[in-house]
Amino acid sequence: MEVLGKPLQLPCGLRMPNRLCKTATSEHMGHVKTGEVSPELVELYRQWALGGAGLLITGNVMVDDHLEGPGNVVIPEGEPPEMWRKWAEASHSVASGGSRPLALVQLSHPGRQSPLAVSWARPRAPSEVAFVLPGVGIQAFRTPRALGLEEVKALPGKFAAGARLAAKAGFDGVQVHAAHGYLLSQFLSPHTNRRTDAYGGSAANRARLLLEVVAAVRLAIGSTKVLSVKVNCADFRLGGLDQSEALELMAKLKQASVDLVEISGGTYENMLMVRQEEKEGYFVDFSKSVREKVPGLPVLAVGGFKSLVGCASAIVKGECDVVGLCRLLCLQPDLPKRWGPCPSARTACARFHTLWLEGEDLPAAGKSVRIQVPILGALLIPGLGYYYHQRQIQRIGAGLPVESRCPTLRLLLVALPRKLLWEPGRLSTQNRLGLTAVALGVLGLLLSRKRGS
Ligand SMILES: Cc1cc2nc3c(=O)[nH]c(=O)nc-3n(C[C@H](O)[C@H](O)[C@H](O)COP(=O)(O)O)c2cc1C
Repeated sequence: MEVLGKPLQLPCGLRMPNRLCKTATSEHMGHVKTGEVSPELVELYRQWALGGAGLLITGNVMVDDHLEGPGNVVIPEGEPPEMWRKWAEASHSVASGGSRPLALVQLSHPGRQSPLAVSWARPRAPSEVAFVLPGVGIQAFRTPRALGLEEVKALPGKFAAGARLAAKAGFDGVQVHAAHGYLLSQFLSPHTNRRTDAYGGSAANRARLLLEVVAAVRLAIGSTKVLSVKVNCADFRLGGLDQSEALELMAKLKQASVDLVEISGGTYENMLMVRQEEKEGYFVDFSKSVREKVPGLPVLAVGGFKSLVGCASAIVKGECDVVGLCRLLCLQPDLPKRWGPCPSARTACARFHTLWLEGEDLPAAGKSVRIQVPILGALLIPGLGYYYHQRQIQRIGAGLPVESRCPTLRLLLVALPRKLLWEPGRLSTQNRLGLTAVALGVLGLLLSRKRGS
């Protein structure tokens, strides 16, 4: 287990005190109208920093006013506001006997994955490719409109501005979100990128925007800050980004002075990044190939890790340099501390692990990946497990205890409708009424089908 406690020096010179990372976790805890950082978000990151992970990556922060969900934090103009500085400071909190974690801001643009709940307008994307959500999703997505060439060329500057602000606020660097079907991932994918200009067509053309963004961000933050990129090993859909192309991209990212690549997979249309399966580390075959084919590029593997042994063995087997945890830490922010490298902590973590395996009265951690989402709930909301975890981090930020069970009915009937239909401050009342009517219509249709069958 000691491997998890070994520091890791990144190419930029900064050092992670251990090999565990709290991966990006979209909190939806910014101000719904202005996208400002809230005190609850600051408190959440204090808890995570005290929890002992060696690297914290914030939830996706939007580089302009295109949102992924209500309550996204948005990069402000000008100097970093005071709340940003507090956010950075809290993210570096050190527990007694612990070490100062590194903290990165994840920069993102949703592209076509921008729901009606945040804007009635058509989202922007590489091409006009309609969105197909499996099941009946409450979050509806309009078919995007293709970005003009000038709009594409403006994007690296937006990411760079975000990176500059994050560094000025006190963060150790940024992570560029090019996974999970967000805008940069849409450019990489032959399915969503049908452009015929310099940004579409060949693999090199589709990677152009990401590489331009990376270059601009590096210039903005300098050589001594961390520049990470999160990429899909594949989109797992016909015509999407495949593994051989993703592997070629890794070498280019190394050449572009990236400090850490995070490997994930899937998109909103196929949410394979948050699976409910027994296998730990479901993208490690690919992350291992990256380590073998692109030596010297530190690799962070995320997805499904749920035991101390699973995390440690991924490092020992050379499958990754850093292990990412998300859902576990939404339920138990101090889990890494329990797994810490010092002898006394090792005893604690061994005990914790045994308890976990025996299914005894656990702190919520063991339940996170075992939460069984009821069929009707999952039908109505494909990402129900995702919302459950997001709700828990909102509770932690507000000083409330986590719920050890998924409150499905409350989520379905009260919390989600309120969040999606009534809270989004950017929607007009007319839009909210429209959305409510659509949601009620869908619900009615489902219920009548159920009765008829
Ligand atoms: C509530 C929630 C929010 C997430 N938000 C983001 C995000 O903003 N950016 C991102 O790259 N991944 C996001 N993810 C994906 C996680 O970073 C991670 O890739 C995924 O949950 C798999 O890791 P796990 O099995 O440890 O949960 C989110 C996941 C959850 C559950």
